[in-house]
Amino acid sequence: MFVWIFLVSSANADQMEQGKAVFDGAGMCASCHVLKAAEAAGDIGPSFDVLKPSIDVVKRAVSEGIGIMPAFGADGILTPKEIEDVSFYVANSAGK
Ligand code: HEC
Repeated sequence: MFVWIFLVSSANADQMEQGKAVFDGAGMCASCHVLKAAEAAGDIGPSFDVLKPSIDVVKRAVSEGIGIMPAFGADGILTPKEIEDVSFYVANSAGK
């Protein structure tokens, strides 16, 4: 039981770390979005702290693009794994 909890929470911590790396790196999310947890202050797109998007909403926006936001998935800028990670990270740090 304890081992299971440990494994799950360390997997989550890994995904948070990898998601933040995508957020700050190839995703360039910080240049257009506010996310206090990542010290991001872009003001082109909506603030994640206000929007508090679900994982699925982030995944769709990042995969397909929306408005002037690039289609990171469709254009092959991010891999499906990177999109999973950044979506997990944004959904779990918005408003924190
Ligand atoms: C070039 C600027 C830019 C970048 C880079 C960018 N976005 Fe956006 N994003 C926008 C804009 C603008 C909108 C609002 C689009 C609209 O509603 O027309 C938006 C909307 C969103 C939404 C809301 C979608 C919805 O359905 O309401 C999410 C979630 C999102 N972006 C996540 C991200 C993530 C995660 C990244 C990094 C991988 C990212 N964005 C990178 C500009 C950007």
